[in-house]
Parts: sequence; structure tokens; C-alpha cells
Amino acid sequence: MERHLDSPEVWKLCQDENLLQKLQEYLGKKLVLWRSELWVNYPAKQLIPLWHRDSYPKLISGVGQTIHVYIALTEVNEFNGFELIPNSQIDNNLSVKMKDHFSGNNFFKITNTLAEKAIPVVLKPGEFVMFTDELIPRSICNTSSQVRLSLTLRVTQPSIDILPDYNPNFQHLVLL
Ligand SMILES: [Fe+2]
Repeated sequence: MERHLDSPEVWKLCQDENLLQKLQEYLGKKLVLWRSELWVNYPAKQLIPLWHRDSYPKLISGVGQTIHVYIALTEVNEFNGFELIPNSQIDNNLSVKMKDHFSGNNFFKITNTLAEKAIPVVLKPGEFVMFTDELIPRSICNTSSQVRLSLTLRVTQPSIDILPDYNPNFQHLVLL
């Protein structure tokens, strides 16, 4: 994983009108891009195999909404991508299996019944999916024999603070 808020390509995506419009519908006019990640998922390797919410108690704090934009740079399908459990299926008393030390993100133990309700994400290169902290995603084992490449943009509202121990390569937040 690589973080690159200063990349011209990321900046170009940040100015995409369709993407901005969708983000503003959810977060309001003022947006803060606080993190971007380039992911390379090799066949048969799982970067984060556990179910989790993408909320980062050690990296951000405050009252406000965040949204995650997953942009497919290569094809994403049920053989190489990830799954999401819909909001309506989520029980808020999910038991925490472990925590990510860096972000404080919780990883959950999910029952098989719940896992069966997961929906695989299917995207063509250039397509994107947006999701909130309410959804539970997990990467699935890449059996496609091809590398999956993606860009994730994490966007929030100005009311959210980026905590000082967060240390991206590029230090400044980007106001969109
Ligand atoms: Fe995640």
C-alpha cells in the first residue's frame, strides 16, 4: 500500500465532476481528502482478509461523516475483489476479533449466515464504488491469476480532525 495525496493523477480524479457531485450529496459542499491509497492485490494473497469497518479511531476524530471511494484500476470481480455486507444485515453488536494497531480499526467475527449475505463488488477498470463506515467489507482470496490494482480515496467533512500521529507521505490535507 502506498499513500500519495500529492500525485497529479489523484488530483485529476479529485476534480472529476461526477465523483465530486456524489461526494457532495453525502458530505456537503466542503470536502476534505485525508488519505489516498494505491492497492496491489496479488493472486492468492489477502491483504486484509477479515471483515471490518473502515473507521479509523486512531487516525481521525470528531463528529462528522466519512466516505470511502474505491476506484478500480483493473477489473474487479467475484474471483479477485472484495465483498460487502449490506447495512440492513448488520447487527451493531458484532464481536471484535482483533484490532489493527495502526488505525485502531476493528476486525469482526462474522457468522456464516451473515457472510452468506455478502455481495461481491464487480467493477470495470475506471468504475468506482463508494461506501460508508456502516458497511462491512473484506477482501477475498484472489484466484483470478491476475493482479488487482485499485485506488482508494478517503474523504470527510471539515469537522473531522486528522489526529497528529497520522503520518502520510504528504503532510497536508487537500481541500476539494
Ligand atoms: Fe478496508
